[in-house]
Amino acid sequence: MLTGILLLLYYRPGANEAYESVQYIMTRVQFGWLIRSIHAWAANLMIFTAFVHMFSVLFLKAYRKPRELTWVTGMLLLFLVMGFGFSGYLLPWNTLAFFATKVGTEMAGQVPFVGKAMMIFLRGGPEVTGATLTRFFGFHVAVLPGLVTVLIAMHLFFVQRQGMSVPPKIEAEWIENPSARREMKFFPNFALREMMAWYVAMGVLGALAAFFPWNLSTKADPFVSAPAGIKPEWYFLFMFQTLKLIPSKVWFVDGEVLGILGCSMAGLLWMLLPFFESDKAGRSKAWITGLSVFALVYVVGMSVYGYLAQ
Ligand code: HEM
Repeated sequence: MLTGILLLLYYRPGANEAYESVQYIMTRVQFGWLIRSIHAWAANLMIFTAFVHMFSVLFLKAYRKPRELTWVTGMLLLFLVMGFGFSGYLLPWNTLAFFATKVGTEMAGQVPFVGKAMMIFLRGGPEVTGATLTRFFGFHVAVLPGLVTVLIAMHLFFVQRQGMSVPPKIEAEWIENPSARREMKFFPNFALREMMAWYVAMGVLGALAAFFPWNLSTKADPFVSAPAGIKPEWYFLFMFQTLKLIPSKVWFVDGEVLGILGCSMAGLLWMLLPFFESDKAGRSKAWITGLSVFALVYVVGMSVYGYLAQ
């Protein structure tokens, strides 16, 4: 957020200016290249951390009653931070981002009944043009920040009100032996520990941004053909690779449509997981842990496969 605000001081959203303004930031603005690099790395690390956080609360079963809505607001946050990544990716208006956005919005266009309207809404017209860039800029600096702020406030309000969950096994131990209960003052004890974690995170971010600066590559040209093997950003790869594995026709249904419907259904069911996870006695259903392991292996496995695949 902070580096984004700094970039806004120089960035100009428009098909004739965007690429040049990023080039100006990287070559003429003092530390411009570093601020841009930190922004891009921080964006990717934030999405990665949201996934790690999701799987950690999943395996700690921290979504169980009464934290169902914490999970639901969390899932909405995950979709929104991926939306941040998707909209931000186009803003430098370079070749890769242009064609990745074309592929991504085309997929949205495959959703039955509403797809076409959704694609035209995202693109600001039938094709990816300067209108798409301005629209994505609006999403990135106004719409998404507003939505994320509201959802984070709700998410943290639920955490504050419900307190931190305790994993089932430890909860059982504490009921059996209350003296085993371990607690810590937030200030200063936990806050100091958190401060150390922040230092490490900042160190990693600074090192990545300085040693692997984010490059700009060539300016987008809508009239050239797409480079071979165009792929979306890493956090969409597991879905992209899933769609590639589905044959073009499944019986009389278009394979891509089926794939997109399947991914959307899986996303929706995943968001509703806390509501069907436990039996009447409140015990977690045995297959939930198996499903959690399968989900983790699937997301990581298909992402690596997608990255390595030609
Ligand atoms: C931008 C994204 C997110 C932010 C900033 C965020 C922030 C937080 C924070 C600060 C906490 C309290 C500390 C902790 O338990 O770690 C928390 C708890 C929680 N979050 Fe998130 N979160 C995000 C995304 C998610 C996602 C994607 C999910 C799940 C799909 C999720 C589910 C939960 C749950 C269930 C808790 C309660 C944990 C407990 O009580 O032990 N969050 N979140």
